[in-house]
Amino acid sequence: MAQFHFDSNIAVRKEFCTENKPEPCGIVIFGASGDLTHRKLLPALFSLFRNGLMPDEFYVVGCARTNMNDEAFRQKADTSLRERFPQLDAAALTAFLQRCFYLCGEYHTLELHYQLADRLKALDQQFRNVRNHLFYLSVPPNLYAPIVMQLNEVRLTTEADSGCPCNRVVIEKPFGRDLSSAMALDLDLLKVLAESQIYRIDHYLGKMTVQNILMFRFANAIFEPIWNRQYIDNVQITVAETLGVEHRAGYYEQAGQLRDMFQNHILQILSLVAMEPPISFDADRVRDEKVKVLRAIRSFPLDNLPRWIVRGQYGSGRINGKDVPGYRQEPGVDPNSHIETFVAAKLSIENWRWQGVPFYLRSGKRLGGKVSEIVITFKRVPHSMFAPISPEELPQNVLIFNVQPEEGIALTIQAKHPGPKLCMSSLQMAFHYQDIFKVELPEAYERLLLDAMLGDQTLFVRHDDMKVAWSLITPVLDAWAEDKSGKRSGLLYTYPAGAWGPAESDALLERAGYQWVTSSRPTE
Ligand code: BG6
Repeated sequence: MAQFHFDSNIAVRKEFCTENKPEPCGIVIFGASGDLTHRKLLPALFSLFRNGLMPDEFYVVGCARTNMNDEAFRQKADTSLRERFPQLDAAALTAFLQRCFYLCGEYHTLELHYQLADRLKALDQQFRNVRNHLFYLSVPPNLYAPIVMQLNEVRLTTEADSGCPCNRVVIEKPFGRDLSSAMALDLDLLKVLAESQIYRIDHYLGKMTVQNILMFRFANAIFEPIWNRQYIDNVQITVAETLGVEHRAGYYEQAGQLRDMFQNHILQILSLVAMEPPISFDADRVRDEKVKVLRAIRSFPLDNLPRWIVRGQYGSGRINGKDVPGYRQEPGVDPNSHIETFVAAKLSIENWRWQGVPFYLRSGKRLGGKVSEIVITFKRVPHSMFAPISPEELPQNVLIFNVQPEEGIALTIQAKHPGPKLCMSSLQMAFHYQDIFKVELPEAYERLLLDAMLGDQTLFVRHDDMKVAWSLITPVLDAWAEDKSGKRSGLLYTYPAGAWGPAESDALLERAGYQWVTSSRPTE
């Protein structure tokens, strides 16, 4: 008979792991002199290597326009890896860097791709057994299709079957800038690649805490029965940053918050929270359910947009005790820019599970805290036996998934307050990853690069998923673009940096008797 004991803290009782090692692989990073490569991709590959998760045979080829040789690329990689991992093992670093190579050229030219094909052929022989290749496109989006076309010309797009090596392509965001451009890009890619070779990346899906939504919902029997309109009052998703546009004005002025965070990260999180249980953890079974729930989201009513979606732009203010400029004063930003840096929206999911449950989503830059979290508020008790306390006075149970920065889960419950009188307190049962597992959580890119090498697409966005997400937000983008004055589609409200968006974002909830919930502590 199994016995349970009450412990004063949570203990990890048993681990169930399903980790495989990928087949030998050559990784090619286009955009190798860029920020993402040195801040995220190389550290992720090195970390996998240190943890014994890279294939037995692998190499990395950086490819970019900057004139460098292998040695200079290794030097640059050495600097960024030492910065990222101050305590690293020098022998492991040397072994990793010996597997790094560099090729310089113009991305759209056939010449570069012929050179690449020759280089890969030589490296495949040098690192015996390498047959598979992973191409990571960390380049401006207008280069995605040209690079893939040239890879096809030099026969680097073959699929795994019929004895051919397997070539896979990872595409960074943004994948298009609206529905039609995303579909056009997709068509181009699908001319030479199969869907099984395309890995559309959304780094939020690689975050451990986002994946934990699946474990929490579907590896426990007790939550699923209450995960519906009978028990859940409302759901909120907040992805807030204290950072401003930083050095990315060129990109952000063309994107804005709805494209940058909603179309991808927020809708991906939402789909994991709201989807039906997949029949297995197979990539397509999980993605089938994600698409189904996104399809059930009611389109934004264009004749009444401001009641459903609010946009804002940060003005000057204070963040972490420092004065910061407004968005329009940031370097590279048009002083009359109409780009939104904040979006709050109300969504309804029209299916049996969620009918009538409002989903409130918000995301912005220069907000009052850096926090990504999902807040599930449960319905009130139907009757209070603790008269004279009425059901309305009893606080609702709230479940919070903190995706970052304090990764964990917290549940508020009511409990008897010590003492002879009938008093109740709201308590929080909380679990923090760092405290329990005592390890630094891996970067999202580690999980995603590993999965791409393994050929596991579960955490990548399928073409229909991407299409449904764009279909939902493109009409809003169009309405905002056509109606600059905001008379019909809603004004662009200014909020001071350090606030939680404009007051109209609060009004979106207050109209229905709600307010935003956050676990984030206020900044100075
Ligand atoms: C990126 C956006 O996808 O996500 C950035 O382009 C944003 O604008 C970033 O800052 C946030 O990611 P994270 O992992 O820091 O929450």
